[in-house]
Amino acid sequence: MMNIIIKNEEQIEGIRKSSKLAGEVLLYIDGFVKEGVSTNYLDQLIHNYIVERGGIPATMNYNGFPKSCCISLNEIICHGIPSDDVILKNGDILNIDITTILYGYYGDTSKMYIVGQTSEKADKLIAATKHCLNLGIQQVRPGNYLGNIGHVISRYAISQGYSVVYEYCGHGVGIEFHEEPQVDHAARKNSGPKLKQGMIFTIEPMINEGKPRVKVDESDGWTARTIDNKLSAQFEHTILVTEKGYEVLTDVSNEYPIT
Ligand code: MF3
Ligand code: CO
Ligand code: CO
Repeated sequence: MMNIIIKNEEQIEGIRKSSKLAGEVLLYIDGFVKEGVSTNYLDQLIHNYIVERGGIPATMNYNGFPKSCCISLNEIICHGIPSDDVILKNGDILNIDITTILYGYYGDTSKMYIVGQTSEKADKLIAATKHCLNLGIQQVRPGNYLGNIGHVISRYAISQGYSVVYEYCGHGVGIEFHEEPQVDHAARKNSGPKLKQGMIFTIEPMINEGKPRVKVDESDGWTARTIDNKLSAQFEHTILVTEKGYEVLTDVSNEYPIT
């Protein structure tokens, strides 16, 4: 049985605050992403920023995950573990994924960063992935089918010659880290449950330059890479279904919809 929580006003307000904090972390860290710094240094800054504001980094100890955020470089699709051994170099592209707990409520968001100057193909992949999230967000309104989010995302990604990762999905979020429903980024038109006011979930497309498949490093059980070592990009927001449409709870700079 599908059990999608419909959040009440008090819960929405709590999730809104936590989501705002998560979004602010992504803005804060921007100035520190540069050549020569380690991903563990970024993790420490992020950890302190969240804790100083009364929050808890949700990834820490989540199913044994050891750090306060995920940082996924280049061919890493998601769940990269911050490390002193990973030093950013010119041309790297990376996703930083932040999940906060604030007074018990969760907010979840991620975006891409570029170190120095990167290749045209990396720039294009990043722009297309952001556009996928933007298209997905614009499908959110009461009465529309959940599957239409994945439908527009996959249609666009494929039209650009990319593939959509199907082994990881978006998810309900707010009271728990990962709730129902699963939000597929490749889906059939008018499939799945209908959206209702008060649902909150993430949309977080992972788009690959090459093949869609994932391989997880045996050494740590987390790091998820493309099987052909080609690039992957991801953007994520936490979205509330409102009476008329949506509110992007983690979009602190009011970027969406991008028209
Ligand atoms: N924040 C990720 C998501 O968007 C989940 C990370 S789980 C972790 O769902 F354990 F890898 F941190
Ligand atoms: Co998520
Ligand atoms: Co996330």
